[in-house]
Amino acid sequence: MARRKKVYEGKAKILYEGPEPGTLVQYFKDDATAFNAEKRATVEGKGVLNNRLSEFFMSGLNSVGVPTHFIRRLNMREQLIRAVEIIPLEVVVRNVAAGSISKRLGIEEGTALPRPIVEFYFKNDELGDPLVSEEHIIAFGWATQQDLDDMVSLALRVNDFLSGLMLGVGIKLVDFKIEIGRIWDGDYMRLIVADEISPDSCRLWDIETGQKLDKDVFRRDLGNLADAYTEVARRLGVMPQREPGTTKPTLIN
Ligand code: TMP
Repeated sequence: MARRKKVYEGKAKILYEGPEPGTLVQYFKDDATAFNAEKRATVEGKGVLNNRLSEFFMSGLNSVGVPTHFIRRLNMREQLIRAVEIIPLEVVVRNVAAGSISKRLGIEEGTALPRPIVEFYFKNDELGDPLVSEEHIIAFGWATQQDLDDMVSLALRVNDFLSGLMLGVGIKLVDFKIEIGRIWDGDYMRLIVADEISPDSCRLWDIETGQKLDKDVFRRDLGNLADAYTEVARRLGVMPQREPGTTKPTLIN
């Protein structure tokens, strides 16, 4: 049997050629990085959890008409996705001040923002993913004005969907990051949500206690990252049965 072809390897995922044209297999690693990979660790079970959680969020979005790259999960660590041309921007939506906006603008973490704020960061590790304005994006040709309008609209729809989902299980969606890609249907181009949606790319706080259930647990050394992600999965009914502190998640299917 021929070995499948690796198309791309990032910090937390690997992309392989898919079984049909226009598809890829997305493999979730256990590697965790922060601060542009200055801090690294392997968190056993993280890839399995993020595969399941990203499946849950993306298939939910598909079902409410927000297009994503997700086709189906293949196994514990892999999912079949549509190949897209990734727009080199990280699209961040913030509901509550935390992280870089708190530092940059001196807003205390936890302050509710007057409305959801959408920001764009240029995806470039060497530059540390700098914040960019719509002017930069259009002038440098990373996206058009129409793309930007579509990206803001997609990001806000994702925010509405995820905020509601999280609220239902006692979690506040503080902020999150998505990536967006282009797909072509003949001559027509559409933008769809790509990459992953998981506690690696969101800030999730317990509504009652404020406990952090996302990658800040790793960034700020607040405890066991897999336990935090397992708690998110458990509340959402996504991935059951993993005792805190034990290594391997147990899957029902
Ligand atoms: P920030 O406050 O550090 O700018 O992060 C905003 C949100 O984006 C937060 O939910 C974490 C997520 N994020 C990523 O997914 N990848 C990144 O490289 C960074 C910096 C943030």
